[in-house]
Amino acid sequence: MTAEPAARIDDLRTQIAHHNERYHTLDDPEISDADYDALLRELRELEAEHPDLIVADSPTQQVGGTINATFDPVEHEVPMMSLDNAMDRDELRAWADRVVKGLDGATPRFVCELKFDGLAMSLRYEDGVFVRAATRGDGTTGEDVTANVKTIGDVPHQVGDALTPAPAVLEVRGEVYMAKSAFDRLNDRSQAAGEQAFVNPRNTAAGSLRQKDAAKTAARELSFFSYQLGQVEFDATGPSTDLTSHHAQLDFIESLGFPVNEHVKYLDTVDEIADHCLHWQDHRHDLDYEIDGVVIKVDDLDQRDVLGFTSRAPRWAIAYKFPPEERTTTLLDIQVSVGRTGRATPFAVLDPVFVGGSTVGMATLHNREQVQVKDVRPGDTVIVRKAGDVIPEVVGPAATNQRPANSVPWEFPADCPACGTPLTQPEGEADTRCFAPDCPATRDGKIAYFASRGAMDIEGLGEQMVEKLTSAGLIRDSADLYSLTVDQLVELDRIGTTSAQNLVDEIQKSVDRPLPKFLTSLGVRHLGPSASAALTGAFHTLDAITSKTVEELAAVDGVGGVIATTVSEWFAQEANRAYIEKFRAAGVNFGDPDAAAREAEARAATPQTLEGRTVVVTGTLSGFNREETSEAITSRGGKSPGSVSKKTFALVAGQSAGASKMTKAESLGVPVIDEAEFVELLESGDLPERYQVPDADSAEGQSSSD
Ligand code: IVH
Repeated sequence: MTAEPAARIDDLRTQIAHHNERYHTLDDPEISDADYDALLRELRELEAEHPDLIVADSPTQQVGGTINATFDPVEHEVPMMSLDNAMDRDELRAWADRVVKGLDGATPRFVCELKFDGLAMSLRYEDGVFVRAATRGDGTTGEDVTANVKTIGDVPHQVGDALTPAPAVLEVRGEVYMAKSAFDRLNDRSQAAGEQAFVNPRNTAAGSLRQKDAAKTAARELSFFSYQLGQVEFDATGPSTDLTSHHAQLDFIESLGFPVNEHVKYLDTVDEIADHCLHWQDHRHDLDYEIDGVVIKVDDLDQRDVLGFTSRAPRWAIAYKFPPEERTTTLLDIQVSVGRTGRATPFAVLDPVFVGGSTVGMATLHNREQVQVKDVRPGDTVIVRKAGDVIPEVVGPAATNQRPANSVPWEFPADCPACGTPLTQPEGEADTRCFAPDCPATRDGKIAYFASRGAMDIEGLGEQMVEKLTSAGLIRDSADLYSLTVDQLVELDRIGTTSAQNLVDEIQKSVDRPLPKFLTSLGVRHLGPSASAALTGAFHTLDAITSKTVEELAAVDGVGGVIATTVSEWFAQEANRAYIEKFRAAGVNFGDPDAAAREAEARAATPQTLEGRTVVVTGTLSGFNREETSEAITSRGGKSPGSVSKKTFALVAGQSAGASKMTKAESLGVPVIDEAEFVELLESGDLPERYQVPDADSAEGQSSSD
């Protein structure tokens, strides 16, 4: 790696943020878990060599997962942590040794549970009534998915009775999943309706929880297993329930009517634990739900307290992760597809095989070099591997001794399979590309991306429809979509008037999409949804954005040098400017030109009491909702980020304030104020007296020699 470490670190963070968004927010990953891990590993190593370049919002410093803007944020009073992994018997033994050492030689009782492959969920009950369901999110802040979780049959709406009264506050944590049988039923239904098949139960469960319409979630048959308590508060008068061990907690959870999985095992030695893990590795397919490992926890809660936590995971628990599943099958062919960026990706056409929870008929081979290194050839029996992610991989040939004597290595095609232009592999890059400006594959890929869910979200405009439209010569780029007519569409094979009208309506509807969606849809390298939103927040209109210098763009929070450069270069190109003008003519929303003026006006009318100051808010305030709070701060010249740092001027603590932010503020000496004091701060710019540093005058007479 010859690039400057700082630039490479910046680049890696941009790439990782992009892939996080693809995976967590859009449910549509572009790279395999292994490739993602490689990026993260490289970043971690570079940061280890250059600790001065570590920043708090680096992906290496996060628990994992991102927060989706569609659902309200929920702060977890008790953080939802992740688990460290053990991959084999030795790693299990090393962990158990650390536990015993941490307990001064005491040997604890361990509890082993299955590791369900679903989504972690925290269910909150107040006085026995279900009030909220929240996802894990980044561990501190999750998403409010109450309406959707309410539709899950396993989740009680009311708990406790005279015999087992519910605590005043009860949080039950566990996993929302989709049973394999429910998944099969769903796919039978979608097949009967002529719709696309769902890929696997986990992603389907995740997608189901993200539905804006809870009725859609209800139709998906989700389930729930409980395995942990979060916050619990009993009434002062209530009975004291013994909750001092994991088994007591599980008994309690079960007595209240929550489903607890039947395969819970209490074991004492590492060998028993390892055997138990291997047993489930072999028998995972006997179950009607997917598991990806076994979780081992210390049973006794006092012992857990002694062991404590690292920054991301408890020391008293570990996840034994099953290795990725592998199967063999026949490699029928190797083909090359060209995507929207012109990248030519080789992929394996396989005799379909069931592996890692779904049937695999195609698998990526990544790039030219990967095929050479693996030396797989059509006709070979190959090993196909799939971990919990959705992208399957060809590991290599299972055996090469059955190859015919005249077998030769597969050769990467010299020309683009779509347009016949010679492919090029730029110096120092792993990818081979088609640079033809009019390549139909690149063009179709760009248009399909433009219409996709994370971009302009045009329903009914998938890859196949795009291909129909371009090959009929009706459109040449995404901007042409806006001049399509019903008459033109009905001329196409198998499109009736109703579908044609629907498509035209859907396309027209998209002109009003918010500017960040439009920016994303342009497919500018590195410019994903969050950077697009950041640019819009800062400059309001497309014209304002395109008139900025690289430095001005890079100065925006969440943008940075890499994105600023590619954005600026893209908009400088004549062809792209002409392309943008076609969208303007079609009436696509280019942002609100008055927003900047309105903001300036409001600013002029509002005293800038928080000029240059950072105020963080946690919990809920009675007089402001979230938007009003941040508006109140920014309109007075302040900033309101989501996390507390040394630079924070004050932390405002509302109802159910987040414990982690409070602790952090206290440890950094950041003033913590309540809502009334916040109102005062907005007005005067002053902190309450207890935080005011005495100034020089009043400090007179308090000389240190007293
Ligand atoms: S306990 C502080 N138990 O695994 C420990 N987690 O990598 C909290 N999971 O986010 C987790 N089955 O989504 C626990 N029996 C089980 C589990 C389990 C699945 C998931 C959970 C968590 C992730 C941690």
